[in-house]
Amino acid sequence: MNEKELIRHALKARENAYCPYSSFAVGACVECSDGSLFEGCNVENASYGATNCAERTAIFKAVSEGHREITAIAIVGGKKGEEITGFAYPCGVCRQVINEFAKGDAKIIVAKSENDYRVLTLFELLPEAFGPNNLS
Ligand code: THU
Repeated sequence: MNEKELIRHALKARENAYCPYSSFAVGACVECSDGSLFEGCNVENASYGATNCAERTAIFKAVSEGHREITAIAIVGGKKGEEITGFAYPCGVCRQVINEFAKGDAKIIVAKSENDYRVLTLFELLPEAFGPNNLS
């Protein structure tokens, strides 16, 4: 799957963002090693702390459907109802959750649009990570 296609899916997922408290709408799409795709959006909560980020929504959907190897994730975020003006990088918790199911060379695509995006690796965003191998 190419980057543009993953971004398109992330933009579609963003339309479902439930963000009445921050008005910051985020969409994500993960690609798994078998090519399957899972979309997710942020889901906020009146308690604030129970909010789930778009990346984790997408990853938990993938894992709960039996997919445990993530090869790429595209992320788009910005003020709800407005044009996206900046790159939305995954928060620290999401980086850690991506690390659980991805290798260091997994692609993290942050995008403003299909034609304006950056591709980084998980290793670049989370060097010296603590992961499953540290426990074996
Ligand atoms: N958010 C995400 O969905 N992903 C991130 O990596 C950063 C933040 C969401 C959480 C919250 O609903 C809103 O953006 C503002 O923080």
